[in-house]
Amino acid sequence: MSKISVIGAGNVGATAVYYIAEKNLGDIVMIDVVQGLPQSKGLDFLHAAPLREYRVHIYGTNGYDEIRGSDAVVLTAGIARKPGMDRMDLLRTNAGIAREAAKAVKEYAPDAVIVVVTNPLDVIAMAVLRETGFDPSRVLGMAGVLDATRYCTFIAETLDVWPGDVSAMVLGGHGDAMVPLKRFASVGGIPLGELLDEKTTERLIERTRSGGAEIVGYLKTGSAFYAPAASVAAMVEAIVKDRKTLLPAAAFLRGEYGFSGIFLGVPVILGKGGVERILELELTGDEREALARSARAVRQGIRELDSL
Ligand SMILES: NC(=O)c1ccc[n+]([C@@H]2O[C@H](COP(=O)([O-])OP(=O)(O)OC[C@H]3O[C@@H](n4cnc5c(N)ncnc54)[C@H](O)[C@@H]3O)[C@@H](O)[C@H]2O)c1
Repeated sequence: MSKISVIGAGNVGATAVYYIAEKNLGDIVMIDVVQGLPQSKGLDFLHAAPLREYRVHIYGTNGYDEIRGSDAVVLTAGIARKPGMDRMDLLRTNAGIAREAAKAVKEYAPDAVIVVVTNPLDVIAMAVLRETGFDPSRVLGMAGVLDATRYCTFIAETLDVWPGDVSAMVLGGHGDAMVPLKRFASVGGIPLGELLDEKTTERLIERTRSGGAEIVGYLKTGSAFYAPAASVAAMVEAIVKDRKTLLPAAAFLRGEYGFSGIFLGVPVILGKGGVERILELELTGDEREALARSARAVRQGIRELDSL
């Protein structure tokens, strides 16, 4: 049985635990700094097992030592974005939390693959990579799966088709900086361009880009968590089942797409070893320029991280 630890038992973390349990992916440890919170949620999840037919153990704790021997660790601890707050505003607090968690992973789960969710994603992933000293293949960030699932949902709604038949690839940084690849979206293998006109596609891309902000606008005191948690569960499944799934993830680049030393959303093959391969697609001039803009934003974040 695999062991999965989820750090941060808030909205994204707890919902991810729920989806991971429902898929019977492995025993789960949930960690949070708030006394009693992970314990209560862990027990509550466990009580639902007979009805929801999962057969995994779920345990909530405040102690990092419980992550010992984890195969996958999901980092969601941090503060969420509030309305009007830029992702970079979160950096100071969340980098401190991420470093503390990374130190614990290094000590107790030195073979784990770490999926970073905490924002600003691409920069926090860098802080985690530095703190753990792990091989970069074992540190990655969740963002592209979320952007892609939002894009697929809007496409499915517009065309009135089964959402699972829609597939899309999104590169670059998260949200505002994402780079959707129009050429690589399809429904049942049919390129999107055959099914939707350019103007409609642009509208869906714009809605995807601001998908997170749209939810923050409604929620006011927090950010999206159901779709982010589902994205986490998909990534954890690829890792613990060694599925070799092709999906977009923030991966550490060493020359791919012309960038080095930063995390950027790219298509990867995800398996037991983490990022087992990065796929390099031939990009158009516009796509390359959009990716370069995204990379500049990430580099700016890293400069801010360095200045903390
Ligand atoms: N990458 C993405 O696509 C994406 C999507 C959604 C949310 N996020 C980010 O995920 C993070 C969590 O979002 P949320 O909605 O779950 O927030 P939340 O506030 O509901 O949960 C965060 C949890 O982290 C805990 N925490 C704080 N410091 C901790 C520490 N030192 N150790 C352990 N736990 C600690 C808090 O007590 C809280 O329970 C935020 O940074 C948010 O911006 C990223």
